[in-house]
Amino acid sequence: MAVDHLLLQTAPGLSPKSITPIPQHGLLPFLQSIALSSDNPNEPFYIFDLATITALMNLWTQSLPTVRPFYAVKCNPNPALLAVMAALGSNFDCASTSEIQAVLALGVSPDRIVFANPCKPESHIKFAADVGVNLTTFDSVYEIEKIRSCHPKSALLLRIKPPEDGGARCQLGQKYGALPEEIIPLLEAAKAADLAVVGVSFHIGSGDAETGAYSSAIAAARGVFDTAVRLALPPMNVLNIGGGFTAGPQFEKAALTINSALQEYFPAELNITVMAEPGRYFAESAFTLAVNVIGKRVRGDHREYWINDGIYGSMNCILYDHATVTCTPLALKSNRKNPTCGGMKMYGTTVFGPTCDGLDTVLTGYPLPDLEVGDWLVWPKMGAYTAAAGSNFNGFNTAAIETYIVYSEQGNGAVLG
Ligand SMILES: Cc1ncc(COP(=O)(O)O)c(C=O)c1O
Repeated sequence: MAVDHLLLQTAPGLSPKSITPIPQHGLLPFLQSIALSSDNPNEPFYIFDLATITALMNLWTQSLPTVRPFYAVKCNPNPALLAVMAALGSNFDCASTSEIQAVLALGVSPDRIVFANPCKPESHIKFAADVGVNLTTFDSVYEIEKIRSCHPKSALLLRIKPPEDGGARCQLGQKYGALPEEIIPLLEAAKAADLAVVGVSFHIGSGDAETGAYSSAIAAARGVFDTAVRLALPPMNVLNIGGGFTAGPQFEKAALTINSALQEYFPAELNITVMAEPGRYFAESAFTLAVNVIGKRVRGDHREYWINDGIYGSMNCILYDHATVTCTPLALKSNRKNPTCGGMKMYGTTVFGPTCDGLDTVLTGYPLPDLEVGDWLVWPKMGAYTAAAGSNFNGFNTAAIETYIVYSEQGNGAVLG
């Protein structure tokens, strides 16, 4: 059994009994066993593969050895995921009191948390002060005033708007980040408030971001460090390069770009602490969702299925994260001999979510075989910005979706290849 698996067995927040070790290619049989189990009366469920996280953490450490990851809890606050990240030594990016509470509850010390929300409610800033979370971001003078009055001991990172739009699916630059002309006034305002600005943060945008945007943002951050020196402020020593990573080729490219920009603008002799706030990179491929077909309609050669999760649940990522989701059939009711439906005729299919809203349409014109009520659809890579933002609309409660934890030998989260 892998060393990582043994480590995770003793991780606070994870019960060893809840982890099922599975062999390579064992995810599909495991998924079938849950789908057919009498404990699960056709409810949707997630499978979370811990081995995916350990593999991604190893890859992070190899590819970005000088960059400390602070997992962005907002991406997926699943307690088992947080527990694994904590056990593997990750730090955390929290945006609110309850995210901080979830991380502290795992025994993580407050100095492993950055309160990376540039505009925080006062009560949340006071909470951070009470529990000793002493690093936060800001990009306005109004935030400086709130921090001065609620948490004057907090160190600050000035969030800047990256100079290049990374073309990401989810842009953050309209909402957050100081403009170049705002930087000096903000540094001076923080000084006047007796607050220590220890560094700079940015976020290039989330999902399919161009990795070149890291390079220009790191260069701009260096400019802010130099400005602080020119203003005779205490030298900055923290660079936070935010999120925007996707596991796979984008990550490999991002790592090359970042390492070379760090070498150029923040060489090792400067002794800068470099941190990042990856969310999607860790969470996305570790979760697979299975949903049940709860309704069907046939119109000529067209098929329509209703499933028991949808746009107001896990698939909110289609709207909010601008995600493209995919699924494969698992015909456990109608085709037990060939449940993955290999070689079967495909039909243009519409897949609806369970709520009574027309907007709750998950897929249109999607190729699927003829399925029956009671069959299943399996959705890979459903860990990022899915359950985290699902609702209870119409009484379909996303938070109630069960997660089954496995440790697979392959560790790549792929159920059906
Ligand atoms: C401040 C901050 N940090 C990190 C993240 C995580 O980004 P990603 O999932 O692209 O890594 C986000 C996402 O919106 C964010 O707002």
